Amino acid sequence: VIGETNAQPAHLIVNASQGGSKIPDTLFGIFFEEINHAGAGGLWAELVSNRGFEAGGQNIPSNIDPWSIIGDESSVIISTDRSSLFERNKIALRMDVLCENKGCPTGGVGIYNPGYWGMNIENGKSYKVIFYTKSLDSVDISVSLASTNGSQILATSNILASSSEVSNWKKVELQLEAKGTDHYARLQLTTTKKGVIWFDQVSAMPVDTYKGRGFRKELVQMLANLKPRFIRFPGGCFVEGEWLRNAFRWKESVGPWEERPGHFGDVWMYWTDDGLGYFEFLQLAEDLGSLPVWVINNGISHQDQVSTSSILPFVQEMLESIEFARGDANTKWGSVRAAMGHPEPFNLKYVAIGNEDCGKKNYRGNYLKFYDALKRSYPDIRIISNCDGSSQKLDHPADMYDFHVRESIYTSASRIFSMNHQFDHTSHTGPKAFVSEYAVTGTDAGIGSFLAALGEAGFLIGLEKNSDVIEMASYAPLFVNDNDRRWRPDAIVFNSWKQYGTPSYWMQQFFAESSGATLLNHVLQSNLSSSLVASTIKWRSSEDNTDYIRIKIVNFGGEAVNLKISLDGLTNSKYFTGSTKTILTSKNLMDENSFTEPNKVVPVQSLFENAGEEMDVMLPPHSFSSFDLLTK
Ligand code: AHR
Repeated sequence: VIGETNAQPAHLIVNASQGGSKIPDTLFGIFFEEINHAGAGGLWAELVSNRGFEAGGQNIPSNIDPWSIIGDESSVIISTDRSSLFERNKIALRMDVLCENKGCPTGGVGIYNPGYWGMNIENGKSYKVIFYTKSLDSVDISVSLASTNGSQILATSNILASSSEVSNWKKVELQLEAKGTDHYARLQLTTTKKGVIWFDQVSAMPVDTYKGRGFRKELVQMLANLKPRFIRFPGGCFVEGEWLRNAFRWKESVGPWEERPGHFGDVWMYWTDDGLGYFEFLQLAEDLGSLPVWVINNGISHQDQVSTSSILPFVQEMLESIEFARGDANTKWGSVRAAMGHPEPFNLKYVAIGNEDCGKKNYRGNYLKFYDALKRSYPDIRIISNCDGSSQKLDHPADMYDFHVRESIYTSASRIFSMNHQFDHTSHTGPKAFVSEYAVTGTDAGIGSFLAALGEAGFLIGLEKNSDVIEMASYAPLFVNDNDRRWRPDAIVFNSWKQYGTPSYWMQQFFAESSGATLLNHVLQSNLSSSLVASTIKWRSSEDNTDYIRIKIVNFGGEAVNLKISLDGLTNSKYFTGSTKTILTSKNLMDENSFTEPNKVVPVQSLFENAGEEMDVMLPPHSFSSFDLLTK
């Protein structure tokens, strides 16, 4: 017997016979929002920030931040004008070089871009640089990747072109191989030739991205490890905008990257070049084997609203977005998708009408217009309302309703833990719930505490147990670039070159096998019902083609528990050797991971020697345990 004196006793009796109920295939997924530089300067591997010089706005002259000059104003002057060859983003950079040859500072004069808090350039790796340039004379431009302050050149190449080649815009494409490493490097365009040169749409990308799609590999891998069954995108408030004029508009985010105007997201207050656009989200979902959940702008932002009588253009824009995703290559928008390299339709089946807009004046009116149009043209699409239907019937038609854990966004660890009963009394008829945003925030959470993860684990166990009324659930926010924490905590933290999971990220891995599994019935006998919660699933691993029973249990209390587990009615032949137990716990409730200690709070797996039909286990105080029993 593994036990601890003074530990509280409890008994979990699992009905392991055939039966139980199927958990929806879609239950656990992820929610990607462009917040905290999650995409621009994050998941999207583009190294150049403000690549088209549009971020300063359409007025000229404009601020071209974060671009800066190399040299001083006696040798080089930069300004912006509207000479770009791209119609939707007319701003280009004009560079007047005033020095010549040896009269120029060593290394020449020009411009550099530090990327998003530094570019990660690594020895031996290749980087693809593309830019457009124009000049009245011939040009001699050095393109280089250089260390933070420019003192060391890590990779370089020279572009020579005659005046006739560059008299109109010329596209330059080259590949640079780094001969050194600097995680905070920069891209430089320099010259020692007097004259005027224009630049536009300057891009630098690592050659090695996830499936060659342009995503940062290690970050996508962290998503893949969660086995997400869906991906909700692109927000969140990012979808709405503080003002509608700054909301995400999908049409501006598709087609060739050079032609995308980019936009200023005025909720999270930063510019995105929109390299990560609607197409890329759909592609990412497909690559991860996840269903896309497309959150559309319903004509409502934080500050302004389109009236229902004028909403039809927005409805049309939504219908066209579905045609883009699903229409065949002969349709107007399907052909744009096909031209982007994806002639087959994407598997888009879920559309959410707005984000957190239920209480707003025009929501119901607008919603019904979107709903009717969508049902008419795409009856198979599951439509998600922003209004919470968990405790009362919706007053409008919907296939699903959005439930955000909300007690002034979001909540405490003890409250979310107690919310494992939130859906116990939800009606079984009517639309299913999509818990599209949940997390512990505030003092219990810090920037990602173990305590937060423990509370959330209890909540997810409750969702699993009530998965007959819940179709989907996702944590929020997913990513944070450590240099721009707009929201805390988050699941995955990164900078230009490193990343780690918060305890909440690791907690979610315990649920990676739940979607589509069978929920087994159990009875938990204990005096600690307010601090113990368990669920039991049966699932088949595709990795070893073996059946498992997984018992997950959260001990939210401060006392150890001696738990007896009984598997009743196990009819198949039993084979417990190789069973494992995994525990997520920590010395202190507020322990967090960090770049220096990325594995301070991570699950610890070991062989579960005493697996059997009757088992005695000890649950440490404040712990989340999972027992994976092999049942061949
Ligand atoms: O997840 C962060 C924000 O919280 C989302 O943008 C919004 O939907 C919610 O208010």
